[in-house]
Parts: sequence; structure tokens; C-alpha cells
Amino acid sequence: MRAAPWLLLLLRLCASLEQDCILGIVGQPLSLPCFHTVQLSAFENVSIEWRRDEKVVLRAAWGEDGNVETCSVNHASISSDAARTGDFSLTLPAVHPKEDRMQYSLSFISGENTSAILCTVCLQIAAKFSAPLLVKDMAAEGTEMTFLCHSSGGYPQPAVYWLINNTENPPEGSVRTLAASLPNSHLYNITSHLTVNVSNDSSVSCIIENPSTNENLTSTSYARSESTAVNRAAEAMWIFSTALCVVVGILVAAGIAYQIHLDKISKQRKHKYQEQQRGYRRRRPYRDDAEATKLEPKETDV
Ligand SMILES: *[C@@H]1O[C@H](CO)[C@@H](O)[C@H](O)[C@H]1NC(C)=O
Ligand SMILES: *[C@@H]1O[C@H](CO)[C@@H](O)[C@H](O)[C@H]1NC(C)=O
Ligand SMILES: *[C@@H]1O[C@H](CO)[C@@H](O)[C@H](O)[C@H]1NC(C)=O
Ligand SMILES: *[C@@H]1O[C@H](CO)[C@@H](O)[C@H](O)[C@H]1NC(C)=O
Repeated sequence: MRAAPWLLLLLRLCASLEQDCILGIVGQPLSLPCFHTVQLSAFENVSIEWRRDEKVVLRAAWGEDGNVETCSVNHASISSDAARTGDFSLTLPAVHPKEDRMQYSLSFISGENTSAILCTVCLQIAAKFSAPLLVKDMAAEGTEMTFLCHSSGGYPQPAVYWLINNTENPPEGSVRTLAASLPNSHLYNITSHLTVNVSNDSSVSCIIENPSTNENLTSTSYARSESTAVNRAAEAMWIFSTALCVVVGILVAAGIAYQIHLDKISKQRKHKYQEQQRGYRRRRPYRDDAEATKLEPKETDV
């Protein structure tokens, strides 16, 4: 029995109504929905194919006995009783930014040449950015200050906004933003610089907006509090390094004193020994020389 042409036409119509974009989050599994009330077990020798653009990612074939054979790439899967329930949704264990804006489609194949597209799903990829790290550049002088905002590991390229005192937009030309695409993951790192004249009690906020999820991440810094915090840290650093110098100085002095002491002792010993040697030589000059030559080859052996 073959699928009637009107049925395929109906399926095609349904498919055109179902075109939609599904948001996939990097690192999370995703299900691409596709439901059809048509129960494929009503036909013989039918198969379905899920394709990503033109590439087949999953193929399932139902034999006359109702058994299904499935093969897939990257562990993509469909429900094992899809033919009975009409739920042909494709489950992907993971999604990659490379797949952003790609089309997934499910084709229904019956008979030799007849096939119809049941579902088309457009995939949209997003990855969450890290909480922005906002720091003030300490090199600044006077009222001109530079702030640096960094966020990493997100997708797609975000929009970066700055706000002064929670409401004012910074003047034109004061913001410089650089996005770097990470080679393997295709994720983005973003760094933005703001150089403005602000008073010490101003607050500066950096906002990272992911256009796909509409998620905003905000980090706020206060011109004054941050600088005092850094000053305090610098002070602590100074005390620490001074203390370290003193301790090292004491240790070095003690070491030198001990070395001098050791030298003195060894000098005294040497002196004593030489004294003894002299006395010995005076008594037995010839034998001593003979003994020395006898000992020599033994030493080189070692
Ligand atoms: C279904 O497939 C089997 C094996 O591929 C074949 O023997 C059989 O004739 C097919 N049935 C129909 C109705 O096409
Ligand atoms: C299916 O297509 C092949 C060529 O691609 C053709 O020879 C054959 O007649 C077609 N069969 C049907 C039933 O249309
Ligand atoms: C991206 O940001 C992370 C975290 O700040 C950093 O470890 C990594 O080196 C950055 N990579 C590039 C290519 O900038
Ligand atoms: C900040 O003010 C100084 C002096 O008023 C000016 O020279 C400088 O260009 C200003 N900087 C910015 C970024 O507006």
C-alpha cells in the first residue's frame, strides 16, 4: 500500500505552517519538536529522515513487521514508539554554535520516490556570558578615568552598554569594544573600555546583553570606593614587603655570622692539623712521600 498523493500534500501543508526557530543553549540537550497525527504504522516500508541542512543526522526505517531500524550521528535520537504516537521530535544531546540558524527538517519517505517534508525547524544557538568583570584602570590621572569590562564564553556576539550614575549614556567616542571569537568553541570573549571624565562619587555600570536570550548582565563600579580599596591594598602590600625585607635581612645577617663562626673553627682545626703534619714530616720525611705516591692511584680509581 502506498501513501496517497493527497496525504503527502496535506503533510507538506502542515510542514509549511510549522516553520519556527528553536532556541538551543550550548551544553544543554535540546528537543526539536515534530508531531504528526498520521500513524506511519498504517503503511508498509516507510522511513523518515531528519536532516540538518542537507546532511542526514537520523534515519529510521519501519519494516513490514513493524520493527524500526535507526541510525544517527552524534547520538541524535527519536522516541522508539514514534510511529505509534506520532511524536517524531528529534533529541540532540548537545548543540554547537556552528549550528546557529541551521535548518533541521524531517522527511517522510514511502514507496520508491515519494517523500514529503513533515517538519522544518530553524535552530538558534545561545550561550550564557560570564558575569562581567568591571575594573578601573589605576593609571588614570585627574578626573579622566578608564574602566574595563570583560565577559567570556557567550554566544552570539553581545551588545555592550555603559551607564554613568545608572542613567546617563557615556559621550560618543568614549567606548571601545573588542569581541574575540574563540577558535574551537566559536564562543565569544568581549572586552570593552570606557574612558570618561567622572567625579569620584559617580557610579559606572557595564551591561552585557545577549541578543538571543535577551539576558542582561550588569556590573557596577564606584569611582571612589574602588580607588580607596585599591589604595588600601597597596598600603597592605607596602607593609608586607617592608616586613619581608626586615625578616630576610635578619636571616642573612644570622647566616653570615654563623658562616664566620664556622670559618673560624675550621681555620683553627686546619692550623692544628698543619702543626701536627709539620711535626710528623720532621720526624719521618721519606716514608711520608712514599705513602703519598702509593695512595694516588687509589684515589683516581674512585
Ligand atoms: C518492503 O521491504 C521488503 C524488504 O526490503 C520487501 O521485500 C517488500 O517487498 C517491501 N514491501 C513493499 C510493499 O514495498
Ligand atoms: C522513481 O524514480 C526513478 C528514477 O529516479 C524512475 O526510474 C522510476 O520510474 C520512479 N518510480 C516511480 C514509481 O515514480
Ligand atoms: C577568554 O576569556 C577567558 C576568561 O577571561 C580567558 O581565560 C581566555 O584566555 C580568553 N580567551 C581569549 C582568546 O581571549
Ligand atoms: C577630560 O577632561 C580633560 C580636561 O578637562 C580633557 O582634556 C579630556 O579630553 C577629557 N577627557 C574625556 C575623555 O572627555
